[in-house]
Amino acid sequence: MKFAGHHILGISQFDRGHVDRIFEVADRMRPYARRERKTSVLEGAILGSMFFEPSTRTRISFGSAFNLLGGHVRETTGFESTAIAKGESLYDTARVLSGYSDAIVMRHPTEGSVSEFATASRVPVINGGDGANEHPSQALLDLFTIRSELADRGRGIDGLRIAMVGDLRFGRTVHSLSRLLTRFSNVRVSLVSPSELRMPEALVEEMRERGVDVVETDQLEVGIANVDIVYSTRIQEERFASQADADLYRGRFRLNQSIYTALCEPNTVIMHPLPRDSRVGAQELDEDLNDDPNLAIFRQSDNGVLVRMALFALILDVADQVDDYSKPVNWSTERRF
Ligand code: CP
Repeated sequence: MKFAGHHILGISQFDRGHVDRIFEVADRMRPYARRERKTSVLEGAILGSMFFEPSTRTRISFGSAFNLLGGHVRETTGFESTAIAKGESLYDTARVLSGYSDAIVMRHPTEGSVSEFATASRVPVINGGDGANEHPSQALLDLFTIRSELADRGRGIDGLRIAMVGDLRFGRTVHSLSRLLTRFSNVRVSLVSPSELRMPEALVEEMRERGVDVVETDQLEVGIANVDIVYSTRIQEERFASQADADLYRGRFRLNQSIYTALCEPNTVIMHPLPRDSRVGAQELDEDLNDDPNLAIFRQSDNGVLVRMALFALILDVADQVDDYSKPVNWSTERRF
C-alpha cells in the first residue's frame, strides 16, 4: 500500500514494511511534538474531525497532530450537533464534509460505519474507532510504545510476551493490537478475561494461523506472570445491554502495586489505552502505580501525537518535507515532567 491519498481503516491494510515506515516518520516528529520546532508543511490544509462517541486522547491528539504540522481543524462532536440527527446519511455527510476538508478523522459507535463513510469520501479518512471493531491508530501508537519501552530494556518486538487483560470482547484497541502483532515473529499473547468477555474466536484463530502463540485464561495470576508487557483494559460498559451487566465485571482484574510486585517479573511494562476507570469499585489499573517507573501509560498517550502526525504526513504525502518548512518556536518549551 502506498500511503498517499489512502484511508486508514483497519490493521489488515498494513504489513511490517508499512509499520516500519510509520515509526520512522513518527520518530522524526519528536522535535515538533516537544514544541522545540514548528513546521508549516500543512499550512492551509483542513482536517474534518467527527467524533460521535466520547473521546479525550484520540480527538485531541489527532487535532494537535494536524495543528503541529501547520494545518487547521474543524470539528464536531456528538450526533445531535450534526445533520445526522435530522436523518442525513453517512454517504451525504461524507460527500459534503470531504468538500470542506483535506483529511477526515471519524469515531462512530457502529462497526463498519467509518469504512462506509470512507467509500463516499473524496479525501482520506482515518478510523478513530468504530464500535467494538477496530482502532488502528491506537494499535500503532501502542506498538510504537512497546518498541520504545523494549528498546530501553535492550530488546526488539520479535519475541514479545504480552498479556492483554480485561474486556477483550468489546475492547477495539486489543482487537487492532492483536492483529498488528501478527506482523512480528515469536510473539506470545496471554489473553486474560472472564469467559463472557473473551477475545472473538475469529481473531484468536487469525493470530494462531499467523504464528502467534495464544494462551487464554480467566486467572490474572497465571496470565500476567512471565510477560514483558501487561496491557490492561477498561470494561467497555457502553457496549453492554445494561449497566448492571457491565457492573458484574467491575474490579475483576484489578492491577495495583502489591499485585504487580507479587505476580509480575521485575520491570514488566504496564500499559493501558486509557481512559482507565478510576471510580470506586473499578480501578482496573490502580492509581497507587502512578509513581512506578514501569507504568508507561502517559508515555503511551504522548506517543499518540507522534504516530498521528506520521499518519497525516504520510497520507498527505509530506513526510519528507516536514523539516523543510520548520523553524524554532518563539515560546518557552519548559515542561515540568
Ligand atoms: N484510547 C482512546 O481511544 O482514548 P479516548 O477514548 O479518550 O480517545
